[in-house]
Amino acid sequence: MGWHTLEPASKLRPGEVRTFKIAGRHLAIGRNRDGYFAIDDTCPHANGSLGEGMVDGDCVLCPIHGYAYHVRSGEGMDDGEEVAVYPTELEGDVLRILLPDEDEASPQP
Ligand code: FES
Repeated sequence: MGWHTLEPASKLRPGEVRTFKIAGRHLAIGRNRDGYFAIDDTCPHANGSLGEGMVDGDCVLCPIHGYAYHVRSGEGMDDGEEVAVYPTELEGDVLRILLPDEDEASPQP
């Protein structure tokens, strides 16, 4: 496990989600009303990029078929699948994201 940084964090506006490749992982990182979140980018339904989707309250909507995934629990609201969720911390304008090492399995949300 290790902390990785994304800065400036403010390049993500409230209500925005985008894909970032950090430490070999594709992540959907965004902001909702509760702050920043980081989840796996790949939609388990059919591999859509959640970072190309949209924020809807506590969820990210996949751009392919619109399935919703909760940004704090990773729970799929439509298909019962889950995406991995990674802890984040904000320090000033730096977003820190705790990721497993590349050879570790993804944490369960
Ligand atoms: S690929 Fe994401 S909802 Fe179908």
